[in-house]
Amino acid sequence: MAIWHINGGRRLEGACFVQGSKNAVLPILAASIVCPTETNLLNVPQLSDVAMSLRILRQLGCTAEQQGNDVYIDSRSIVTNIIPHEMMECMRSSVLFMGALLARCGEVRLSAPGGCKLGSRPIDLHISAMKALGAEVEEQGSEIICKAASLKGARIELPFPSVGATENAILAACAAEGETVIYGAAREPEIVDLQEYLRKAGAYISGAGTSNITISGFDAERYVGHRIVPDRIVASTYLCAAAASGGDIELRGVDSRQFSRLQHFLNSAGCDIIPAKRSVRLISDGRLNAVDTVVTGPYPEFPTDAQPLLMAALLKASGRTDFVENIFDSRFGHTRELSRFGADINVEGRQASVWGVRSLQGATVSATDLRGGAAMLIAGLSADGESRIIDSGHITRGYENFDYKLRSLGADIFMEM
Ligand code: EPZ
Repeated sequence: MAIWHINGGRRLEGACFVQGSKNAVLPILAASIVCPTETNLLNVPQLSDVAMSLRILRQLGCTAEQQGNDVYIDSRSIVTNIIPHEMMECMRSSVLFMGALLARCGEVRLSAPGGCKLGSRPIDLHISAMKALGAEVEEQGSEIICKAASLKGARIELPFPSVGATENAILAACAAEGETVIYGAAREPEIVDLQEYLRKAGAYISGAGTSNITISGFDAERYVGHRIVPDRIVASTYLCAAAASGGDIELRGVDSRQFSRLQHFLNSAGCDIIPAKRSVRLISDGRLNAVDTVVTGPYPEFPTDAQPLLMAALLKASGRTDFVENIFDSRFGHTRELSRFGADINVEGRQASVWGVRSLQGATVSATDLRGGAAMLIAGLSADGESRIIDSGHITRGYENFDYKLRSLGADIFMEM
């Protein structure tokens, strides 16, 4: 359990380097066992989800170590294809070891993954992709057993561009005989990074970033070096914090094209946004106005992960902003906690309406999930007085050295473990 202490009302000023992407490194860690390979990853954030993935890799028989932001994995010997339930339930991305182990071992035993409580999060699309490649899938109680004497290239049609199902299908298809084409694939930048890693590892894969991805075989390499792309959602978090608190910050090491929808909304809320090749600057006087309806959708539409962040930034914006959540069926849990700061929010089904209030008062709140917890921090930074965010470990799953970095930008914040 951690408590984040904030004394709000401070402007954020200065520059900071944005960490590597959690949602890019997690599928790549699973991908590192598809073939017997040595892997060196750079720009890996120090996060509890990364630590858990490295534990799963060691559980499977790999060498898997992190020193700072460098990770080394040696997956040349795998001793089991079973992942214990207590490792699966810690995060959503543990499910990606299904496709990776099916590719490597031809069989995998695991249970349903954990992850943020954002409504129902089934894995039916993952399982149907495995079956399309020729796997038999059996559910025995909470255990899922996936096996395939041999995987055959297939046409996989995703009815919804599920990020995880796309990634799992790619990993399993690496070992399939013949060509696999995934239609209706998710287009997130993290999938492009997975493709780049797999190409270096010897996979014949193309199309990531589009709706159609083709995988046709694998010439295993023995060593892969790869740098993880920057985290576009963490970058979005810093922008929303500076927009709400007022300030002038520059984020470095980012590809601002990957979170342009958020920049559009912050610009129309009254912020000055100055994007450059590997950085983006935001200037705000902290007095924002409401924006047009924010509708979440699959990339490149507005990202669901930024919905709580932008909402927190607009709690004092003059006027009303509506948010429509189309990706998860229950991703407004943070609104109840935001109301404790004095925010005026009404939720009806998939729509949340936010009426800007003149000021927010410091409060004691609980982090509901990873991005909901980040939204609490944004609200606390822009509220008057002291706030405390009680966090059962959500925020550190996705944000590296977050209190230190916010302090370096002028925030009065510290995390008490
Ligand atoms: C990934 O989750 C991200 N997590 C999430 O980020 C992100 O919110 C999400 O993609 C959407 O962009 C990681 O990459 C580790 P989905 P994932 O499969 O793969 C339904 C964060 O804060 N669905 O695209 O689980 C599902 O219920 C996290 O970093 C099925 O119905 O997302 C949801 O409504 C939160 N059946 C929708 O699709 C399936 O088999 C999107 O899920 C799979 C998904």
